[in-house]
Formats: sequence, C-alpha cells, structure tokens
Amino acid sequence: MAEFGHTVIGIEPDESKLRAFREGKLPFFEPGLEESLSKAVKSGNLTFQSAHTESSRNAHAHFICVGTPQSEGSYAANTTYVFSAGAELARWMSPNSVAIGKSTVPVGTAAELKKQMSEVAGFEVDLIWNPEFLREGTALNDSLHPDRLVVGGGTPNGISILKEVYAPIVKAGTPIVEMDLQTAELVKTAANSFLATKISFINAMAEIAEVSGADTVKLAEAIGLDERIGKQFLKTGIGFGGGCFPKDIRAFISRAEELGVGDALDFLRDVDAVNLRRRQRVVDLLNKELGTVAEKKIFILGAAFKPNSDDLRDSPALSVAFKLKALGANVFIHDPKAGEGVGKLHPELNVVDNLAEGFSMASAVVLATEWDEYKQIDPEVSGTLMAQKVVIDGRNVLEVEKWRNAGWKIYALGRSVANEVGGQ
Ligand code: UGA
Repeated sequence: MAEFGHTVIGIEPDESKLRAFREGKLPFFEPGLEESLSKAVKSGNLTFQSAHTESSRNAHAHFICVGTPQSEGSYAANTTYVFSAGAELARWMSPNSVAIGKSTVPVGTAAELKKQMSEVAGFEVDLIWNPEFLREGTALNDSLHPDRLVVGGGTPNGISILKEVYAPIVKAGTPIVEMDLQTAELVKTAANSFLATKISFINAMAEIAEVSGADTVKLAEAIGLDERIGKQFLKTGIGFGGGCFPKDIRAFISRAEELGVGDALDFLRDVDAVNLRRRQRVVDLLNKELGTVAEKKIFILGAAFKPNSDDLRDSPALSVAFKLKALGANVFIHDPKAGEGVGKLHPELNVVDNLAEGFSMASAVVLATEWDEYKQIDPEVSGTLMAQKVVIDGRNVLEVEKWRNAGWKIYALGRSVANEVGGQ
C-alpha cells in the first residue's frame, strides 16, 4: 500500500516485531520485501503502532490481515485472531470508512464478523472480503501485480474506496470480480484446494510411476501441454507444505462437516494423505537403501517449505528430518536462509552451514527444497567427499544422467525410483 503512495499505519502488538518494523527490518526472509519496507519507513509513508490510536479514526480503509492457523487438536481454522482484531478495530472505525478482510477464513466467518463488529461500532460496519493470493517467495510482486481482485460484499462507498486504494492495479486492467461475502471467502479456499489437489494428483501418478518404471516429470510435461490442464503445480516430489495448503484443506474439510456436507470434500482427505505419504516415501527409500537409517548420517538439503523463503511451517523437509530422527538417524540439515531458524526452533537437528561439510559426513543425501544453489552442485566434486554416493532428489531438479555418470545412485522421486530399485 505504501508502494502505491498511500499513508499506511501498521498495527503490530508483538514488541520485538514492532521494533524491527520501525527500523525497516523484516523478522523473516522474503525477497525484495525488506528493501521495500525500509524505503517506505524512511519516506514516512509507513509507520507502526502497537495498538489503535485516534489516528485510526481518520483512515479510509482498514485491512484485517491476521493469521488463521490450524486449531490445536482439530482440523478447524482458528479464527480467534480475526474476531479479536475485528472487535478492536470496530471501536475505532468511522461510519464512512471500510474494513477489508484479507485473511483466509472458513465460509460464513465474514458475515458473523460483520455482525459482531457492527454491534461494537454501533453502526452497520462496511465489510468487504478481499482474499489474498500472493505466494511466499514472490510475495511483493504478486501483491503489486495480482492476476485478479476478488471483492466480496461491501457498499458502493466501500467498493469505491477499495478501488482507489488499488488504483494502480485497477488501472492496469486487472479483472475485478465482485460477489457476496461467502463466495469471496470460498474463492480463496477453493483456489488453494484446487492447487493442492493438482500437486497430489501428480504425486499419486508418481506412486504409479515408481512401481512401473514411468517418468512423472515427462508425464506432467505432456498432460500440462493440454491447455485445459495447464502445466503449473504439476511438479512432483515430496509434496506441499507451508502455512497455507495443509491447514487450508483441513479447515475446508472441517467447515464442510460443520455445514453437514462433509462428503463433498472427502476427496481432500485423500489429497492430504497422498501428500503426507510422499514424506514417508523418502524414509522408506532410505531404509531400503541403507538397510536401516538408525545411526546413519543423513544430510538434508533444504529446510524451508519452499525456496526463497525461510518459512518452516509444515515443511516437508523438516517432516522428513523428524521421521528419520525418530528412527535413530543422525540428521544434518542445510538451508541458505532457514538454517538459523532451524537451530533456534529445533536444536535436536544439526544445522550445517557448509555444503562440503555435510557431504563429507553423510551416508545419504536428500534434496528437500529446490534452492538454486543445490541445482548447481557438482556431483563429481561432492561425490569425492562421500564413501557411498546416494541421493534422493525430492524435488526433481537434479540432472539424473549427470549424477549417475558421476557414480551416484540417484532416486528422483516419481522418476528413476523403479529403475534404481530394479537395478539393485
Ligand atoms: C499458496 C498459494 O499458491 C497462494 O496463491 C496463496 O495466496 C497462499 O498459498 C496463501 O494461502 O496464502 P504458498 O504456500 O506461499 O502459496 O506457496 P506455493 O508456491 O503455492 O507452494 C506451496 C507448496 O506446494 C510448497 O511446499 C511447494 O514446494 C509445493 N509445490 C508447489 C509442489 O510440491 N509442486 C508444485 O508443482 C507446486
């Protein structure tokens, strides 16, 4: 918003994050975002407060961007933060301003929020649901150049404020799809569920390919050329993780059950199960290859749930690391950006800063996050550091022939697994 030239106030109750933001520093890694934050803070366009003050009364638009994590012990989304942020905001809203919800919420949340906020405010709060589709790793660009704006609910005044706020995006001709609150909430969960389903579909094909000798990467290329299918989100490997897909499909299942139509989303349970089986597949392959992983040293390349991020939430890489650890393996893990976070949050895992050090200790290597620097690894050079050259490519980014020619046994998930197992 500050990039668009607006005057923005960010509300951040966490003291240490607040301090960082005020200094123009990000408490996490996201390419380009710290530069943008620092520029906005310096320009005075962006300031931060720990809570609302009188200045909130002058704002034309209020964005609700808090998280909706998975609830402890259930599939449901925890919407507490949305309701508490909304109730607090309602005390400071002026009747001609608009509240704009960005958080991913179960269908029906926004209508209830509008009711509760209106009670607190003493007038009918103008609430628009405007889901966010940015991806970590490309967040800034996705936010500044979205492929659509979804606008759920709102009065003509609220919608016109929203369009002013997004003026550069509107001017660029970005499609704006107006709808009711419920549909806007569903657009987000449906989009994430569809994308997660695509990934699990190709990973289900990988299960077939791994026992039949077929190549899922080629398969994805061929079916992806059909425009009706499309080539994106058909990358096979150890599956999806992060703070969005896993919890969003579970929250959707949970909400459908609450609404009495649980059967409609039964397939998402399979999407989740296929995804989780991919992580176990890595462990099974290592057990088979090494006899047992107990007391073996396994070097994992990557900890973040995807490259260009240091986000460790529901990371497939970490999940594999913990499974191996539980079986008695000695796990070493490297990540260009998330290493420090792993060291702090999971001291039981050994973080390695130097790739050569990791290779020289390992009985087997697992590529779990496709950072560019891992794609550049020279199999000849790294091979000289290892006694037994075994690698599992969990993201299908290594050149199988090149690694094989350098004397490696390479299990590329969904591709060369059957060949390697057959060759044993
Ligand atoms: C996802 C959606 O793509 C965004 O549109 C959405 O706004 C966001 O969730 C959200 O709900 O906030 P994100 O989780 O940041 O974005 O990242 P993705 O690029 O979607 O990747 C998610 C996971 O799927 C990663 O672990 C990635 O490695 C995996 N993935 C992705 C695959 O395994 N195969 C693919 O072909 C694509």
